Amino acid sequence: MKHTIIEFKSLDSTSTYIKNNYASVDDGSVVTSITQTSGRGRLGRHWIDDGKSLLFSFLLKGKKYSSLLDSISLLSGAAMELTLLELGLSPLIKWPNDIYINDKKVCGILAEGISSSSLECIVVGIGLNLNNSSFEEGLNATSIYLETKKEFDKKAILFSFLSNLDKLLESEEKNPYSFSKIIAAHDYLKDKDIYLNYYGENKFLHCLGINSTGALLGKDEEGKLITVTSGEANVVTNLTRAI
Ligand code: BTN
Repeated sequence: MKHTIIEFKSLDSTSTYIKNNYASVDDGSVVTSITQTSGRGRLGRHWIDDGKSLLFSFLLKGKKYSSLLDSISLLSGAAMELTLLELGLSPLIKWPNDIYINDKKVCGILAEGISSSSLECIVVGIGLNLNNSSFEEGLNATSIYLETKKEFDKKAILFSFLSNLDKLLESEEKNPYSFSKIIAAHDYLKDKDIYLNYYGENKFLHCLGINSTGALLGKDEEGKLITVTSGEANVVTNLTRAI
């Protein structure tokens, strides 16, 4: 896929920029910004940066992508997982949208659909903590710099990600959900107890793994097997266990 790179020094949000301008932005285009003034995370959260993270969003334009809407976030996570593995790191995917290294978040992904009467476009926004040397107190985050003590070129990482993304999108055409093997092989939640926030309800689950379509498999308190296709997972710590 052709990727036109549109670069900014500062934007409110790379994803908001694409959402507001998608009519004039080509399919496959990538918008980057050194910093964002209103970076957005999942569930209405803010994504704060200090100019050292790799911040970008890409556009998949047209109805031909509608079958990807539910899986693009997982597929993008798998592409970032491959990119970080190539750097010699040991990242794990925290289903469904984050990447963790050493129990700390290093990357977050926000996939959004734009529709009028039907789906028009998908915008995927990615924030990768790259060269950051510290984080706000209380934030359970790390960066590639903190893990390796080396600084990395933002563009080199972006190009490596796009090449992995293209490979996974191509194999999706012949082999739907083949990306789920990458997630299953690098699954942060496997064998952990979690509280799953599912449409506002908090459900306890013991995670068993990821299935062939990228869904989370778990066992609930009654021992019933559950397959989950969306939600937000919070790992049960000794503290939350006691509560
Ligand atoms: C999350 O962890 O909740 C997802 C975070 C996604 C942040 C990225 S940074 C680039 C793009 N622009 C945004 O406003 N958000 C995404």
